Amino acid sequence: MIRNIENIIPGIETSDGAGVKLCRSLGQQQVRLDPFLMLDEFSSNDPDDYVAGFPAHPHRGFETVTYMLEGHMLHEDHLGNQGHLKTGGVQWMTAGRGIIHSEMPQQVSGAMRGFQLWINLPAKEKMKDAAYQDIQVEDIPQITLKGGGFVKVIAGIFQGEGQSIAGPVRDITTDPLFLDVHLLPNQEFSHPVAADHNAFLYLYEGDGVVGDSLYSAPKQAAIILGSGDHVCFKAGSYGAEFILLAALPLNEPIVQYGPFVMNTQAQIEQAIEDYQSNRLTV
Ligand code: FE2
Repeated sequence: MIRNIENIIPGIETSDGAGVKLCRSLGQQQVRLDPFLMLDEFSSNDPDDYVAGFPAHPHRGFETVTYMLEGHMLHEDHLGNQGHLKTGGVQWMTAGRGIIHSEMPQQVSGAMRGFQLWINLPAKEKMKDAAYQDIQVEDIPQITLKGGGFVKVIAGIFQGEGQSIAGPVRDITTDPLFLDVHLLPNQEFSHPVAADHNAFLYLYEGDGVVGDSLYSAPKQAAIILGSGDHVCFKAGSYGAEFILLAALPLNEPIVQYGPFVMNTQAQIEQAIEDYQSNRLTV
């Protein structure tokens, strides 16, 4: 059964950090798709939109995933860890009980484009140690599709073209699928998505149609997919570039206060108290 469009969350312009311009779809006004908490796209050729970056700030209780389509950011945390995130690279950060980090552009001109996705952690993992999976572009499998186009496999397993290829992200309880799909004009793409996973896609370039829809899919929007076991997308006359995300829902209560995402109000108050007394990360 094909997963058709169930809901559309148009991205809205906002800013975060020290004034980075963003398009936020999931995450605006508490709109989420369990376990996905937020999706921001940052995309600009104007350094004034991004150069201020994201100075030191905390997280607790979830994972942040940054996928850099174009540009260069430096990540630094309170432990002295450093990571350069360059074009095509991914940083999968499990904040666990706490991380204080900065994410700063390392360019003063040119294009910067990418995504930051927040994925919730199950209650039993919210207070685990922070961890990183820093993945360089050369470690992300790229599969050429019949008829042109390609798919980058960031997390989960690509199944198609007679192949089954796992992405480099490992050991995430919500079992995420994260594909970046590039299609030529009028090319069709179909991919299995486990029926018990929640799934959405985000079209960032080109045009096309999702499933049985009669209408072109909106760009810069989280397109929430309904039940089924595979996703179909037919590119339009401009081709299409979209990310496809799926993961197991947690079905747990969520209480969020900015960069802290926990299960109860008491845990949020504890996070604030820990942060204010420099105990967030210990
Ligand atoms: Fe952050």
